[in-house]
Amino acid sequence: MSDRHDKVIAMLTESYCMELETVMNYLALSVNLDGVRAEQIKQALAADVGEEISHAQELGKRIKQLGGALPGSADVSVGHQVQPPSDTTDVVAAIKGVIDAEESARSQYLKTIAASDGSDPVTADLCTRLLADEEEHLVLFRGFLKEYESEMSARRALETRSAAASTH
Ligand SMILES: [Fe+2]
Ligand SMILES: [Fe+2]
Repeated sequence: MSDRHDKVIAMLTESYCMELETVMNYLALSVNLDGVRAEQIKQALAADVGEEISHAQELGKRIKQLGGALPGSADVSVGHQVQPPSDTTDVVAAIKGVIDAEESARSQYLKTIAASDGSDPVTADLCTRLLADEEEHLVLFRGFLKEYESEMSARRALETRSAAASTH
């Protein structure tokens, strides 16, 4: 096996670990978050858990086809992503963590596409499809961030105004 081939397997394995970490964090967020404002985010994340698991499965199949094997839990590298916020009502922090995870997944797929393009079109094609999914997730969560941040600043402005009014 060539060095290039081994490098692609290593990159796919890294993506596999990242997908599993994403599953853990999205699962935690979809359960942990509190409040009426969190409901929509919890539902979106619960739906994403299944999609990220299917990404891990597809990566696993390709790793196997290339002659590699998936690591067991002792060898899965996790702990690199933004952790769910300790304040379970902090929806904005949760969304920012999701965006960060999606951006990391995106850049790892881009690197793998660059490494396999020309020499391994099947891997390049798989990573292109997964990249498209992550970009869709990014659009969704960036939209949530815009909505929740503007909601927060409107609420802050209202609080400032009512605080100013009560001092008069
Ligand atoms: Fe994914
Ligand atoms: Fe994703």
